[in-house]
Amino acid sequence: ILEILLKGLQRLEYRGYDSAGVGIDGGNGKDWESNAKSIQLIKQRGKVKVLDEEIHKQQDVDLDVEFDVHLGIAHTRWATHGVPSPVNSHPQRSDKNNEFIVIHNGIITNYKDLRKFLESKGYEFESETDTETIAKLVKYMYDNRESDDISFATLVERVTQQLVRVFSCTELLLKRGGPLLIGVKSDHKLSTDHIPVLYRSSGKDKKSCTTLPRMDQDTCLFPVDEKAVEYYFASDASAVIEHTNRVIFLEDDDVAAVTDGRLSIHRIKRTAGDHPARAIQTLQMELQQIMKGNYSSFMQKEIFEQPESVVNTMRGRVNFDNNTVTLGGLKDHIKEIQRCRRLILIACGTSYHAGVATRQVLEELTELPVMVELASDFLDRNTPVFRDDVCFFISQSGETADSLMALRYCKERGALTVGITNTVGSSISRETDCGVHINAGPEIGVASTKAYTSQFVALIMFALLMCDDRISMQPRRREIIQGLRVLPDLIKEVLSLDDEIQKLAAELYQQKSVLIMGRGYHYATCLEGALKIKEITYMHSEGILAGELKHGPLALVDKLMPVIMIIMRDHTYIKCQNALQQVVARQGRPIVICDKDDYETIKNSSRTIKVPHCVDCLQGILSVIPLQLLSFHLAVLRGYDVSTHHSGLKMIIQSFFVLINNYYSLVGYAHILLHILLKNH
Ligand code: UD1
Ligand code: F6R
Repeated sequence: ILEILLKGLQRLEYRGYDSAGVGIDGGNGKDWESNAKSIQLIKQRGKVKVLDEEIHKQQDVDLDVEFDVHLGIAHTRWATHGVPSPVNSHPQRSDKNNEFIVIHNGIITNYKDLRKFLESKGYEFESETDTETIAKLVKYMYDNRESDDISFATLVERVTQQLVRVFSCTELLLKRGGPLLIGVKSDHKLSTDHIPVLYRSSGKDKKSCTTLPRMDQDTCLFPVDEKAVEYYFASDASAVIEHTNRVIFLEDDDVAAVTDGRLSIHRIKRTAGDHPARAIQTLQMELQQIMKGNYSSFMQKEIFEQPESVVNTMRGRVNFDNNTVTLGGLKDHIKEIQRCRRLILIACGTSYHAGVATRQVLEELTELPVMVELASDFLDRNTPVFRDDVCFFISQSGETADSLMALRYCKERGALTVGITNTVGSSISRETDCGVHINAGPEIGVASTKAYTSQFVALIMFALLMCDDRISMQPRRREIIQGLRVLPDLIKEVLSLDDEIQKLAAELYQQKSVLIMGRGYHYATCLEGALKIKEITYMHSEGILAGELKHGPLALVDKLMPVIMIIMRDHTYIKCQNALQQVVARQGRPIVICDKDDYETIKNSSRTIKVPHCVDCLQGILSVIPLQLLSFHLAVLRGYDVSTHHSGLKMIIQSFFVLINNYYSLVGYAHILLHILLKNH
């Protein structure tokens, strides 16, 4: 069972993670309860391989013994609450006896209140995770049960009503949010191919709410004649597909329970439109296909994740109803930052562009001078830094050498250092005085896409926080916060242009060069679009500030040179129209990325990519996405394998950091796998 669990975790490695853990019961008991008495937890920071080695070092695990009934649970974690460490890894437990253990994907937003409540009742926490509250809460509910025959499923259901988000635990699985499926493996005929969904009685009788519904052939799945069966509960089909292709996909709020080898699915509340049963489906996919989902590469997957990743950056931080922003990581430092003399944003590559993109709104809302620096150049210049400077380090990985060296340089000079990082526990996250984790989830594709838009949003949130007590700024703050509210839907709208952009790529891919022009809020988009094109398509591309056109670059424009221009209806609109005229005067035929309601530009341009309108300082998020898509399609058409060649390169670079920096771990998300074996039971 350990081999199956470890192999399953390895199948999920492609998603990235920073630590891993398993929990196994003692096995060989007649029932779950006696097995559960000897649950063992083994957890490690780092790769699954390290966990495997640790398991083999355990003196008290007999790897040769055979079990009739056995259950194991395993997880890879991508840190969001507390740094990557064995104690923060999953499974989390209710107490030192491992009475209840849990693995969980997602975030429990109200965990702090729950933790405070449980601590006031004497429960001691050992980790920094939100997940531990689940295990402790189950234990609290159990310790305070009204009758001894309360089922585990009832306990868990009660706990879920106190929580917000996804979780799963031994013998029982609850889905809310992320994907969860159950693989069923048996050489014998199964009692049904549809499992009916059971509902708890909603009657007034309290006792009826504490018992599970009937467990018989009409309500459960089991092998006929009580033969052997294996159940796999997993968050990803790639973890189970080599064992079975018969799977059941759970829907939100489903609770699946295995009791004495019988699988049942129930729901707490009946709602209109509920499907009455869950079918056992046969997956026809190959492993490779499942891992990539509907996408041909991680880059493409991550581009399409942006409606959700920007929400994750704002989750629990932006309150759209009362127009407030809370950044837990900055709250103790914000007064000091407000008193500073200037802000310096330091980064490399795409992360540097996130600084360029938000500089103007930072200047506007903080009324401070803002410098944006490439880390390498900042160091080369021995740039003067003072104690009353605040230096920001923007980094997806949190490990980029130049950014890290610049951070140490600024610290030595007494400046306050702030990280904007995607990797909890990374060097920049640890070494900065404070900061904001952008929570975009792991970025595996070599070309940074969703991290850029999340860095952008994080810096905007910071700017909003800096002026939250300035009365004169309130109308502007409200406008931006309401812009953030609609941002995910607008991103979806831009992503729906994918087919159109693919066609454009088909027209451009044999060209040698592409120029991208814009100004104001969209200068950063030009730089970022050109970087994406260079990086993954090997085409020459240059981002040009439209205000600089007449100072030289215009010489490049003729009727053959592909030009993309970004023209939005903000304070630079008239100037951009002038730039358009200059390009047209040189027989250029630019493709214009513009506001879908800007009829003037649409009328005057031979080719446009029309994006929805948003508040000016957020519009850069919408203008960059067509260029992310364009670079992706260009790379595919030019025959570069975005998924293997480039992601592989990033992996190699990242693995290199693992070697040189013990603290760095590959990016990843939490993934769960639970395996239950019932042999001839
Ligand atoms: C924290 C939790 C988050 C939880 C939330 C609930 C962590 C890592 N985050 O988020 O999971 O949902 O409370 O209120 O446990 N920091 C740096 N440098 C950086 C980034 C962050 O020093 O580059 C520091 C911050 O100052 C803070 C800590 O790391 O002390 C966590 O930062 P962040 O995750 O952004 O804080 P919260 O949003 O409060
Ligand atoms: C471009 C890209 C790089 C990174 C740069 C900084 O697609 O990925 O330009 O942005 O290497 O990396 P981080 O943000 O990890 O510091």
